[in-house]
Amino acid sequence: MRYKVAFEAASVGADGFVQVAKVNDVSEGAMVSSMVSGNPILISRIGGNLYAMDAICSHFFGYLPKGELRSNVVICPVHKAQYDVQTGKVVKNVPGLMKMAGGGKVASDLRTYEIRVVGDSILVKA
Ligand code: FES
Repeated sequence: MRYKVAFEAASVGADGFVQVAKVNDVSEGAMVSSMVSGNPILISRIGGNLYAMDAICSHFFGYLPKGELRSNVVICPVHKAQYDVQTGKVVKNVPGLMKMAGGGKVASDLRTYEIRVVGDSILVKA
C-alpha cells in the first residue's frame, strides 16, 4: 500500500486550521490522505518538511494518493500528469493522445494549503 488514510478531519478551529493527521502518520517520502472542509487532500513529507495539496487530479479526477511519489513529484495514477507537491504546479501534463481523447482538457495547477505542526498533530489551514 503506497498511501494511507489518516482520518476524517475535525472541525475547523477559530484560527482556520484543522487537524488532518498525526506527525507519525507521515513518514519521509510517504503520502497520506485526509480531508479539509470536505475536500480530499494529500499530505507528504519531503526532506523532513510537510506539504499539503488537493488530492484530486484536475484532469479527470484521478486520486493522487494512489499515484506514485518520486522526490517532490506525484504522478497521477490515471493518465500520468505530474504535480509538484510543494507548489501544486503541474510539472508534466498529460500526453498528447490523452489531450485529444479528453477533448483538449489538460491538467492544471492544484491548491496547496498552509500547514503547521502543533505537538504531535499536523494542522492545515482550511
Ligand atoms: S486523471 Fe490525472 S492525468 Fe488524467
